[in-house]
Amino acid sequence: MKQNKDKPHSGITDRIVMLLSFAMIVLVIWIALQRRNLALFAWNPMYGNLFIGLVVLSLCIPFLVFLDRKRNKKKGKPRSIGVLSYCVVLLGLVIAIGFPAFEGSFSKSADKKPQLMLLDVNSSRQSPDVGLVWYSEKPGRGKLSYGIAPDRLDTTVAEEKEGKTHALAMTGLQRGETYYYATEADTEIHSFSYFPEFEGGIRLSVSSDAHVGAGTNNLEATRDILAGVTDSSNRYSVFCNLGDVVEMGNSDTQISEQIAFFSPFTTSIPLIQVLGNHDGWFGGHALWRKFYYPEVLRGDKQLYHRFDLSDSIHVFSLDLEWGVESYMADQKKWFTAQLDSLDPDDVIVVMDHAYFFASSTEYQGVPWYDNKEMIDTFHQLFIDHGVDLVFSGHDHQMEHISQDGVDYFIVGALGGEFDDEPTYLSAGSLFRDFAHHGYADVLLKDSQVSVSFRKSDGSVLYSWEKDLP
Ligand SMILES: [Fe+2]
Ligand SMILES: [Fe+2]
Repeated sequence: MKQNKDKPHSGITDRIVMLLSFAMIVLVIWIALQRRNLALFAWNPMYGNLFIGLVVLSLCIPFLVFLDRKRNKKKGKPRSIGVLSYCVVLLGLVIAIGFPAFEGSFSKSADKKPQLMLLDVNSSRQSPDVGLVWYSEKPGRGKLSYGIAPDRLDTTVAEEKEGKTHALAMTGLQRGETYYYATEADTEIHSFSYFPEFEGGIRLSVSSDAHVGAGTNNLEATRDILAGVTDSSNRYSVFCNLGDVVEMGNSDTQISEQIAFFSPFTTSIPLIQVLGNHDGWFGGHALWRKFYYPEVLRGDKQLYHRFDLSDSIHVFSLDLEWGVESYMADQKKWFTAQLDSLDPDDVIVVMDHAYFFASSTEYQGVPWYDNKEMIDTFHQLFIDHGVDLVFSGHDHQMEHISQDGVDYFIVGALGGEFDDEPTYLSAGSLFRDFAHHGYADVLLKDSQVSVSFRKSDGSVLYSWEKDLP
């Protein structure tokens, strides 16, 4: 009687166990196939060890079931599994449900405020278009009107299809002109200056690592920096935001908070924005494409771009989130071909998230300074092709390092918690600051480039300039 009762029970349990085991193995393979996850495990030993634990666990389940069955068979008991296996199954169940939840798979995307993005698809070669990007939970057709006076929004563009991600481009813009615009969804009239001339050159602002949502970040400093770079009297053409805008890029809540916070400022200056390792966190790169740079304006999926700010001033944004891990064959081929096509005497600026040379310390035993693989992959390439300036974030500091005629700037100071004092100094380090939030003020001219580090209140911490041949 007891046997009859147990047999069907154990049969069902066994099937559930085997299914769970299979699901966990699939989950492990899926995690391992995401190169961003592998980079995270390499750079963060705590996550790496958790993953190893998951691998061991997923392989343990079938083994434990097998052992239980064998033991029970010996004792002449019906097929069943022991308490340990039940515990493992329960843990597996928690992980199998918890991981996709953590990854954001079940979360709904909330509305996102508009932001301006500089586009690398040019209607005329020397004048990049400017896109307006926003997101609505309810599908609709976005409509945008713009013009050179608040009461003359006489150019209207509309989306052809209904959708949730909205992206519309303003084209044929004239340098030095102020443009006004409004959308149907947000009738407030915003304005921005399109490449205002500043001391005979183009003025850019660069910062990185706001880490909105971290709890340890300084939102007040972030607000002050955004207010400074969007103050029209400062005549910045573009704000370059080099990643780690949020703490966890798989959190729709954090992204909503970040965009809502930035939008009052980033509706008045076009952005060049790159993906940081925290933005790509566990599937975050998919949300990034949806909210920050919808493919519809670009026609391709690549996360690396070239912006021609004039016929002799070129800015590259590269997808280097932790380091060379995201420098795959397609990006490498594209970047080297782009560099080959340029005159080395032009002003060439590279922007990305991960640092090349850096002074810093170790984190969980892993060095966060001079990244040898990054240096080996890029430094000679930069020298050979006349790259002048390189801007990165990732390390939370402001630092200027000069190596063989290439000047590297780290500007991870947009609000994220400061890194510890360095225990290692990079050989070419000329200036470093680990105590102030701020940004880089960059002036690009054909004959000269200059960079100043400014604190969040706009005061100057460090200034440097170089005459070009
Ligand atoms: Fe960061
Ligand atoms: Fe980072």
